[in-house]
Amino acid sequence: MMTSCSERKEIPAIAHDIHSWSNPDTVRVRHLNLDLNVVFEQQTIQGTAVLTIEQFGHDAKQLILDSRALQIDETEVSPDGLKYRESGFSIGAADKILGAPLRIDIAPDTKFVRIRYSTDPTATALQWLAPGQTAGKQHPFLYTQSQAIHARSWIPLQDSPGVRVTYEARVHVPAGMKAVMGATNCPDSSDCHFTMDQPIPSYLIALAVGELAFQPTGPRTGVWAEYSAVAKAAAEFSDMEKMLEAAEKLYGPYRWGRFDVLVLPPSFPFGGMENPRLTFATPTVIAGDKSLVSLIAHEMAHSWSGNLVTNATWSDFWLNEGFTVYIERRIVEELYGTRRAEMEAALGYRDLQDELKSHAPADQILHIDLSGRDPDDGATNIPYEKGALFLTRIERAFGREKFDNYLRSYFDRFAFQSITTKQSLDYLRAHLFAGDQKAPRIAAGIPVDQWVYQPGLPASAPVPVSAAFLAVDRQLAAWLAGEDIDTAGWSTQEWLHFLRGLPPQPGSAGMKRLDSSFRLTASANDEILAQWLLMAVRNRYAPAYPRLEEFLTTVGRRKYVKPLYEAMDPQQATAIYAKARPMYHPITQATIDSIVAAKQEKQEKAR
Ligand code: BES
Ligand code: ZN
Repeated sequence: MMTSCSERKEIPAIAHDIHSWSNPDTVRVRHLNLDLNVVFEQQTIQGTAVLTIEQFGHDAKQLILDSRALQIDETEVSPDGLKYRESGFSIGAADKILGAPLRIDIAPDTKFVRIRYSTDPTATALQWLAPGQTAGKQHPFLYTQSQAIHARSWIPLQDSPGVRVTYEARVHVPAGMKAVMGATNCPDSSDCHFTMDQPIPSYLIALAVGELAFQPTGPRTGVWAEYSAVAKAAAEFSDMEKMLEAAEKLYGPYRWGRFDVLVLPPSFPFGGMENPRLTFATPTVIAGDKSLVSLIAHEMAHSWSGNLVTNATWSDFWLNEGFTVYIERRIVEELYGTRRAEMEAALGYRDLQDELKSHAPADQILHIDLSGRDPDDGATNIPYEKGALFLTRIERAFGREKFDNYLRSYFDRFAFQSITTKQSLDYLRAHLFAGDQKAPRIAAGIPVDQWVYQPGLPASAPVPVSAAFLAVDRQLAAWLAGEDIDTAGWSTQEWLHFLRGLPPQPGSAGMKRLDSSFRLTASANDEILAQWLLMAVRNRYAPAYPRLEEFLTTVGRRKYVKPLYEAMDPQQATAIYAKARPMYHPITQATIDSIVAAKQEKQEKAR
């Protein structure tokens, strides 16, 4: 095809993202080259970011980036990446949710933009741990959490999931420490060079620095952790290689080379984070019996749903998480059987029922309206469990074989792209729902728009059931009738179902009986313990308070600590939080700050 110089390049369409200041429609960042120094004494990352940009048309006078609390020292532009000249920049007013736009003047021939900058100690993506907060106690620790819109607090960039970049990075760290990234990693040298050759959204850029060791679990998989934790973690995750093979059998080749897991200190605010090639995980899943490894299956599943095919905006988050929960359970079923997968689906369904009760109708919608809100507000169980249930509904209607084939074609079609809910549904309708002559009739029974754009669940929604849980229910009834029950051989999932099925107020005698029979306060399984501690708080069961305080001052996983603070009375919450807050990641701090403040305010008013 002939093109003339005056002709404008076609602009690859990009969905508008209300959570970014950037202007990817006119100028788009394609590659990132980072050179960073990690300075623990000042709790700052300082260095340069070189952005390779592509301009569409000749009218762009500025590159607009996202930033939050970044100090910008200098900006330069270059046509060739060799000769740079200084360029003007301005930082706009900071928005509480979005941070501040960083506007850099560019020329029509600008292809490279170099920014010299440093991060603030308050950067929302970063947690700086003192040596005493690590397992080894000798060295400090730093890690990032970029999802949803925290990348902008440690890198100036177009912080939108619709914009994909490749990157390379050089990271300088103090002697004796090791840097790792969600990229290719070098196991030996300490001044590491990292590369990510596949285009990824900014929320997947991740870094951790600590006294880290590596242990392989297979040819493509392995575990990074602090020295003292790595052996136990590798034993817990020893099925990872098989998991990867199971996932590939279902959804096609794994396209990211390695799948390693970094086990973080217990303050990590999430269960896991699917950083490509290096999932970040909480140590609370290391139960000793592999019973919580569905979390690894979940983060691995994101290698298809999320990292390969990405939500274009945070309103499309269910495309990431709903698909991933569905795939997670398929992987669990392949590896551990239908009994386990059914129990986990039933637990998820229960979570969904609870969330549907506690969220306003507008927040029960898969394609959620996040205007004026932090995208982290949208990360409830709704996109996860309602999204997964929607896919289960489609799977049951069309049969597994057809649906599996459909998903494989979907991942191929949109590989390395960021797509909207509409694009996903259009593809579903065009390919699965019009697949053969019978398809339209089958599809007619699935109210797609109701699933995606309406609150609640359609009447034809599947109800996951677990035969194993029916047996637990019988035991539960016997227990409540005062009998002794045989719980030997119960899995974590059966315990969770039992605890959640108890009456909310067993009374103090009931709590004592549970604790003395099942030693719940002493449980070494954090999932069971968190559930029990929640009952303890709600029932003012004081014998568990020392363990409660110990738990809240060591574990920062938001899913566990949030409901505990919500359930505590203002005095108890305030007292424990004063001790616990310094060890939480800024993301958990922000959540608990508002819970505790609201409690105190309510108490003031009541006086
Ligand atoms: N990508 C999410 C974590 C996330 C979501 C971070 C939204 C920030 C904003 C990750 O894949 C996830 O879903 N983690 C879950 C565990 C999973 C087994 C449901 C978690 O952390 O609880
Ligand atoms: Zn997820």
